[in-house]
Amino acid sequence: MKVLVVGGGGREHAIIKKLKENKEISKIYALPGNGGIARDAECVAIGATDIEGIVDFAVKENIDYAVVAPDDPLVLGCVDALNAKGIPCFGPEAKAAIIEGSKVFSKNLMKKYGIPTAEYEVFTDAAKALEYVEKSELPYVIKADGLALGKGVIIPETKEEAMDAIISIMNEGKFGKSGDQIVIEEFLTGPEVSVLAFTDGKVVKPMISSMDHKRAHDNDEGLNTGGMGTIAPNPYYTEAAAKECMEKIFLPTINAMNAEGRTFKGCLYFGLMLTPKGAKVIEYNCRFGDPETQVVLPLLESDLFTIMKAVTEGRLAETEVKFSSKHACCVVMASEGYPVSYKKGFELTIPEASENKVYVAGAKLESGKLLTNGGRVLGATAVEDTLENAISAAYKLVETIHFGNAFYRRDIGRKALNATEV
Ligand code: AMP
Ligand code: GLY
Repeated sequence: MKVLVVGGGGREHAIIKKLKENKEISKIYALPGNGGIARDAECVAIGATDIEGIVDFAVKENIDYAVVAPDDPLVLGCVDALNAKGIPCFGPEAKAAIIEGSKVFSKNLMKKYGIPTAEYEVFTDAAKALEYVEKSELPYVIKADGLALGKGVIIPETKEEAMDAIISIMNEGKFGKSGDQIVIEEFLTGPEVSVLAFTDGKVVKPMISSMDHKRAHDNDEGLNTGGMGTIAPNPYYTEAAAKECMEKIFLPTINAMNAEGRTFKGCLYFGLMLTPKGAKVIEYNCRFGDPETQVVLPLLESDLFTIMKAVTEGRLAETEVKFSSKHACCVVMASEGYPVSYKKGFELTIPEASENKVYVAGAKLESGKLLTNGGRVLGATAVEDTLENAISAAYKLVETIHFGNAFYRRDIGRKALNATEV
């Protein structure tokens, strides 16, 4: 079987490494992949949003199955276009990917079907949004409607900051069309949990829970990033919380999407906050999280490709999704200055003994050498019997990896560790 994976980050590297465990697969292509992924798959220089290029390649190479991992191609209809050529895919069609592609859509869906989330208002007019901000008390959260490279959520500290954000998003087109509408919502508090779930539109099978660390610096300070590290499982996500989420959030979401004629098949990511008033949805993503995938998939004991095909074919109910009872920690090594500006092109060395546990996000191959080529360079993941051991093993792994301007948080997992001690 020839499998194609669309995307080129740490998440895609983790998916590819897991797919390689399946003996049915004879070849994996990554579009575009990256210099690190090139060790595990054949990388082809076709961008993840070049839908036409992806489809042409898949047809020409007789691809048997495609995994579309990032949000943009999913929202742009990559799965629809591949399906139209008879190529089965893992990932939702565009009409279901809208659950991530439009915050206004997802908020209205939750309101219509009684799924717990923050109270909110939608604005299509900047003047009305400014008026609302003027008369409302902080804190609140401002969200651009569409995809914005993870930068579309603003938690203003002052009214001036809120107004500036509204003007730059709605009037100055900071995020293009993604900012034509905004959501202003209630500020929620409580521990955050990421739950990725397989669903074929009929049943939902949640994966092991995880905790992301979004801020750039230790103690959750600094700017929001794509994620600086993860641990799994998330100790705040108790059995009671899991039951509550299944009943009040996961199943109602799947049912709501079906009722809207937008059946979701693939990996649905629930960004949750365990508030004093119960679990609430902060965001939906229509795909695997990054770097959540780098801790979740190493703990998956069942075969990933078997599950993916079952999702596509609507057989998830009878397919086992089993996780190890171990713990995983992923420390993201980034380029100093990320997420704002950073230098790249430094040589990256990963000892052979560490390679298996490293998911490369931003590197390119040049004359046989790996050079850094992005803000997030890689994720180093360790799996151990306890969270404490997983954290220290992940940091030991980090010490074996070298590149110029390397930067990483020193406290990945600390909050989770404190939670387990309470
Ligand atoms: P996102 O870019 O959607 O992942 O959001 C970034 C972060 O903003 C989330 O991980 C939360 O920490 C925070 N956030 C988003 N919405 C809210 C909210 N309503 N209340 C409090 N924090 C929020
Ligand atoms: N780690 C957050 C995300 O994938 O959106």
